[in-house]
Amino acid sequence: MIGPALVVAGATLAAGLVLALVARRLPTLRLRLVALALGAVVLPLAAVLLSGVLMFDSGHDLTVLAVASASGLAAMAGAVLVARSVLVPVRRVRDASEQLARGELTARAPEDGPAEVAELGAAFNHMAGELERLFDARRQLVAHASHDLRTPLASLQAMLEAIEDGLRPADAYLPAMHDQVRHLGRLVDDLFELARIDAGALTLEMREVELGGLVECCVRGVQASARARGVRVESRVDDAVPRVRCAPDQVERVLLNLLTNALRHTPSDGAVAVLVASDDGAVRISVEDTGEGIAPESLDQAFDRFWRADSARRRDGAGAGLGLAIARGLVEAHGGRIWAEQRPGGGARVSLTLPIAASQPAV
Ligand SMILES: Nc1ncnc2c1ncn2[C@@H]1O[C@H](COP(=O)(O)OP(=O)(O)OP(=O)(O)O)[C@@H](O)[C@H]1O
Ligand SMILES: [Mg+2]
Repeated sequence: MIGPALVVAGATLAAGLVLALVARRLPTLRLRLVALALGAVVLPLAAVLLSGVLMFDSGHDLTVLAVASASGLAAMAGAVLVARSVLVPVRRVRDASEQLARGELTARAPEDGPAEVAELGAAFNHMAGELERLFDARRQLVAHASHDLRTPLASLQAMLEAIEDGLRPADAYLPAMHDQVRHLGRLVDDLFELARIDAGALTLEMREVELGGLVECCVRGVQASARARGVRVESRVDDAVPRVRCAPDQVERVLLNLLTNALRHTPSDGAVAVLVASDDGAVRISVEDTGEGIAPESLDQAFDRFWRADSARRRDGAGAGLGLAIARGLVEAHGGRIWAEQRPGGGARVSLTLPIAASQPAV
């Protein structure tokens, strides 16, 4: 009796393995599910039928065969329905991705169906949303850059035409033309720097630097224009500040951007201060002023490319709105952080942190 039972068990196992191997090779999810359902229903029934024939010589072969076929058909129908409920939402995600590939950035997939497929739809939509945001930012960047490049170019062209037509002598326009060319050069330099930051192509010549000297040097650099504006500039460096590991020329560039902003936004009789202190394993540099400050809702936005407050837009000699974006790129390339806040007594405070040199104990 044990012999035929072992034969039936062995044959069922072998058939199950073969079916699993075949199902793995089927090209679509629908076919695999059908194969799985058929295997799960037909194999046990076939085993029962075979046992009946071998062990009890049962005469009900036809009945069992009919039951097996009906069960097999029911399983296939069930599998087709289940496959459909999975495949329809998957197909909709595929359609949305094709739309996205054609450049329709607003294409989104439905987030329904079985949980895993809904998660796939949500992940796809998140990616599509980020792509749309990036493309918008890029479009805006190009629009702002071309606008800011066109303005000095148009003014240069107008002055050249006036000279050519003999309306004004060349000498009368030379200083203004110089200014416009310098402005254009600075804009192109800034855009180039941003492109290098984006591409991760910055070359940071890292050294251990004592920040006191570096800050003093930057403050001296803006002292003349501060005096001309009637603004007091001072630096306060804590004695215990450790050395930092940074590329000094790039940190100088960041500080000069912050100092230029502070001076630009501080009225005469105002003051600008650079403070350097230890801050939880890093060194914090803050540039604060007694100017109009940055509105609380714009503290983050101020670091966006080409963003300027309306008051800054109207100001004479206003910049392009790239200084803080470059500062953020450079500070983050050092592994630091930069943020803006309101100075408690009025005015703005922009702070950044730089990691201390590895050879120093954290303070
Ligand atoms: N110290 C500050 N006080 C008040 N507003 C500020 C200050 N610093 C920056 N801002 C605001 O943030 C905006 C962006 O500053 P950012 O340095 O990026 O550009 P910008 O100074 O206008 O031009 P650029 O730096 O390219 O010459 C400024 O236009 C101004 O509106
Ligand atoms: Mg600036």
